Amino acid sequence: TPKGSCLESVKIAIDTGYRHIDGAFVYYNEHEVGQAIREKIAEGRISREDIFYCGKLWNTCHPPELVRPTLEKTLKTLQLDYVDLYIIELPMAFKPGDAIYPKDENGKIIYHETDLCATWEAMEACKDAGLAKSIGVSNFNRRQLEMILNKPGLKYKPVSNQVECHPYFTQPKLLEFCRQHDIVIVGYSPLGTSRDETWVNVSSPPLLKDPVLNAIGKKYNKTAAQVALRFSIQRGVVVIPKSFNPQRIRENFQIFDFSLTEKEMKDIEALNKNVRYVELLM
Ligand code: A2P
Repeated sequence: TPKGSCLESVKIAIDTGYRHIDGAFVYYNEHEVGQAIREKIAEGRISREDIFYCGKLWNTCHPPELVRPTLEKTLKTLQLDYVDLYIIELPMAFKPGDAIYPKDENGKIIYHETDLCATWEAMEACKDAGLAKSIGVSNFNRRQLEMILNKPGLKYKPVSNQVECHPYFTQPKLLEFCRQHDIVIVGYSPLGTSRDETWVNVSSPPLLKDPVLNAIGKKYNKTAAQVALRFSIQRGVVVIPKSFNPQRIRENFQIFDFSLTEKEMKDIEALNKNVRYVELLM
């Protein structure tokens, strides 16, 4: 994001009423997020307890001995004492070091063998140390979740699993599995992404142009974006819509003054294409 735009957007979001902020070291804007939160606390608009900040452990930091120092670095950048949620961003590890995407001479990512269960134990230690109130995962499939859930001596279960989730990718099986295990699904790309070709599968049609979402929106005087977000929260999926536009930041918050009927929920569920926008090909 251009310098300063994240700071401004987070401040507008907090003024609008947002409290859950989804961040990551790898977004390179945690310093601006932290500044926005601290400014709003200084203004007296919120207190630290009102904010729910989620940080993420990047792939190059999976070895257990790197977990706590990595979180401490994030806290230093944020200038906060703790994060509300700390999650393993992806289940695969990259070679530790300064390169975020370490590559060999052929341009292939260099992976790193680590034991996800050992990484998880280091996450548990961060919670015990009070650096993270809760711990979770992201982009984990059922098998990977089961590996953690069945780990001998498990101290804390993942509270959440952040995965792609929206009307074109509804994740019915994973959602049901997570429900059974009290794991909250946090849906990323709830609006169908920014369609940036460098990381998005743009052969899948744009979600917000969908005729069903738009027709339902018309009925409630809402946009397709608002219908998509309402659909997710109404089925118990947390949404983290991304916008750097003040008007759309506000628009995305106006989803608590209407509800979708059972039939509309079913009609939207039927839009599922089982195709990801975010393929994470690395
Ligand atoms: P912008 O930042 O210009 O608002 P997702 O949350 O699924 O990743 O989608 C993010 C993309 O959707 C961004 O490109 C964002 O652009 C755009 N966006 C966010 N809110 C809306 C909205 N209410 N209507 C249309 N596009 C939106």
